[in-house]
Amino acid sequence: MERTIIKTADGSHSLFVKHLNEHYHSIHGAIQESNHVFINSGLKHILSQQNRQLTILEIGFGTGLNALLTFIETYNLNIQINFSALEAYPLNTELTNKLNYIDLLNTELNKSTMNLKTIFNQLHACEWDKPIEISDFFNIHKIKNTLQKIVFDKKFDLIYFDAFGPAIQPEMWTEEIFNKIAEATKPNGCLVTYCAKGEVKRTLKKVGFTIESLQGPPGKREMIRAIKN
Ligand SMILES: C[S@@+](CC[C@H](N)C(=O)[O-])C[C@H]1O[C@@H](n2cnc3c(N)ncnc32)[C@H](O)[C@@H]1O
Repeated sequence: MERTIIKTADGSHSLFVKHLNEHYHSIHGAIQESNHVFINSGLKHILSQQNRQLTILEIGFGTGLNALLTFIETYNLNIQINFSALEAYPLNTELTNKLNYIDLLNTELNKSTMNLKTIFNQLHACEWDKPIEISDFFNIHKIKNTLQKIVFDKKFDLIYFDAFGPAIQPEMWTEEIFNKIAEATKPNGCLVTYCAKGEVKRTLKKVGFTIESLQGPPGKREMIRAIKN
């Protein structure tokens, strides 16, 4: 799959997939979108309800931006994060080394001994298909598989649903897929996605979620937060 780096409106990189004519993130701002949809509307929502240990599942690991932002947000909170990330088409390190996220993320972590660049490199370089300790409080388990084939063997508090849109990859947004995800979500657990399609809301409702339509990131009117009944 041919992917080229592009710069989005907030200055952060994303990838363009030629044969799908689709981007990995909003062209209005990749970091801005990830922070709005996954961190502020998902992670912070779950953290406001529980703060001991979190199991997170990302559908579509891609550039690793959501894992990185999750690491930054939970650093210093003294919570154990178990981050599982599903990806069917991993990126090579030649490409991920060129992504400019670390240069733009001006956090305390950049100045601390816990160098953020090293963390980002580790997130990408670490082995697939087994849990890896990135720090005392953050484990990642990258799973190389497709959403269609995977059988989840545990339940999650929080799902970052970051697949390509339903118009591009309808097979990722079916009732069968969301049923599988619902079964892998803990009661009161939460799924967040940038997508706000009525059809997706109806399917999520059907498989056992309560739907909240939230304001979307810049450039998008709405997004979905779905809470498992
Ligand atoms: C919209 S991109 C988002 C990626 C990532 N969250 C990020 O911030 O870079 C969708 C991702 O889903 C992956 N993907 C596509 N088809 C998939 C499938 N059938 N199963 C799992 N992942 C898939 C793509 O390779 C891509 O990394």
